[in-house]
Amino acid sequence: MKAIYPGSFDPITYGHVDIIERCSQKFDKVIVACLNNRAKDYLFSPSDRIEMIDEVFKDNKKVETDMFDGLLIDYANEIGADVIVRGLRAISDFEYEMQLSMFNKVLKPDLETFFLVSSDKYSFLSSSLVKEVASYKGDISSFVPPIVVKKLESKF
Ligand code: PNS
Repeated sequence: MKAIYPGSFDPITYGHVDIIERCSQKFDKVIVACLNNRAKDYLFSPSDRIEMIDEVFKDNKKVETDMFDGLLIDYANEIGADVIVRGLRAISDFEYEMQLSMFNKVLKPDLETFFLVSSDKYSFLSSSLVKEVASYKGDISSFVPPIVVKKLESKF
């Protein structure tokens, strides 16, 4: 089975890493798909975001990266994905995630969304807060892999 794990990954955090690793133990392939929405303001370019993920998973043959624009269901169709995987951190994620999965279900009924509950040590983590801490030169090494620390330091 091929899973697609979509997101902005601006940048990847240890919370994402945890979901991808756990996912790769259950599926034959995990495609980490970076959204490249031209209307959105990202800190990192799509190629930078992908480069960081590739570096973290360079030894895991089940994990691949890609970039997509447009509807997730169309991209999933194109690559022949069997399921969408999303991580759930706290109750606050639930409403949005449920809405997203329901839209996707109506648009493409045979594509299921699987939710993985974040490990408790990462349940508070978000890319936006990591960027905020980094912008004030705070220590972000508990939240993101070393390559991301380096890239964030070069941004701020
Ligand atoms: O990391 P994020 O920003 O929470 O990821 C959100 C993402 C990429 C999963 C979602 O915005 C998405 O799938 N966007 C592509 C457009 C789409 O298919 N939207 C859902 C149908 S309403």
